[in-house]
Amino acid sequence: MVKDFISLLDFSSPEIHRMLRLAHELKTLQKKSLPHRWLRGKTQALIFEKPSLRTKMTFQIGMFHLGGETLVMDMKLGEREAVPDVAKNLERWVDLIVARVYDHRDLICLAQNARIPVINALSNLLHPCQIMADIMTLQEKMGENFDNCTIAFVGDGNNVFHSWAEALYHFNFSLRLVCPEGYTGDVNLVQSIKQKVGERLLIFHDIKEGVKNVDVVYTDVWASMGQEHEMEKREKIFAPYQVNKELMSLAKPNAFFMHCLPAHRGMEVTSEVIDSSQSVVYDQAENRLHIQKAIMVTLLGYNPININ
Ligand code: CP
Ligand code: NVA
Repeated sequence: MVKDFISLLDFSSPEIHRMLRLAHELKTLQKKSLPHRWLRGKTQALIFEKPSLRTKMTFQIGMFHLGGETLVMDMKLGEREAVPDVAKNLERWVDLIVARVYDHRDLICLAQNARIPVINALSNLLHPCQIMADIMTLQEKMGENFDNCTIAFVGDGNNVFHSWAEALYHFNFSLRLVCPEGYTGDVNLVQSIKQKVGERLLIFHDIKEGVKNVDVVYTDVWASMGQEHEMEKREKIFAPYQVNKELMSLAKPNAFFMHCLPAHRGMEVTSEVIDSSQSVVYDQAENRLHIQKAIMVTLLGYNPININ
């Protein structure tokens, strides 16, 4: 059966851990300029309904390193023809679809109608590739301690938070969502994860309590792509949740600061924090490349090196 990467729950924990080990290996190969053109002759189609820097670049660069080709389409799904028809055409030409969509249901529809793997490059609900890169980054920074750490996600309970919450199924870290009332994420998704992981997922509205003694402070924009019209309202609601130096001082002394980027400096994070030595945001961005290479290689069924 064709495997898609729509959610972190599409794979078992051993499979997720293996993809991360493969990503570390691929990073080493890349740094040593060792060849790994394992996807020679393969082609991927990138569909982007929304803007992107990191995701669009890293999927293309990754496929290039792996010896394959990329076709990029900036389009709105369902506008010119039905989403199933898009899937049924693309599967005749390419080996892989990577899609960034407004509506998560369009991603599911693509996956259900294509006999080739579909990768979620961000939807309104989830951003799994981002969280895989973030976990890779924390594994590099913390080693085994990653599994015992506490992460405070400060801000909107959005797509990035949801994928962090799903990662609780595969790892032992603890996650706190520190947010204003009414921004606690998708109720069904959060409840189903909470049932499984219990106290490892907590919601705080008191920002000081929420970040107290955490190992990682993570934030994201206050208004995600597609929510720009709510910006004025959200700016007021989220202002007390800005990650600044004072807030960082409540976390552990050497706590990491993380952000998926793009960042709105002076809003959800101050320049002082994002440019500080505690910030690992560019490591996260770099690791998008390596983890997505591991995801592509895995989905296309290539098992090149002895990683289990
Ligand atoms: N973090 C992330 O997905 O960045 P882009 O929107 O630039 O792809
Ligand atoms: N939550 C943000 C993430 C951007 C990478 C958005 O969806 O716009």
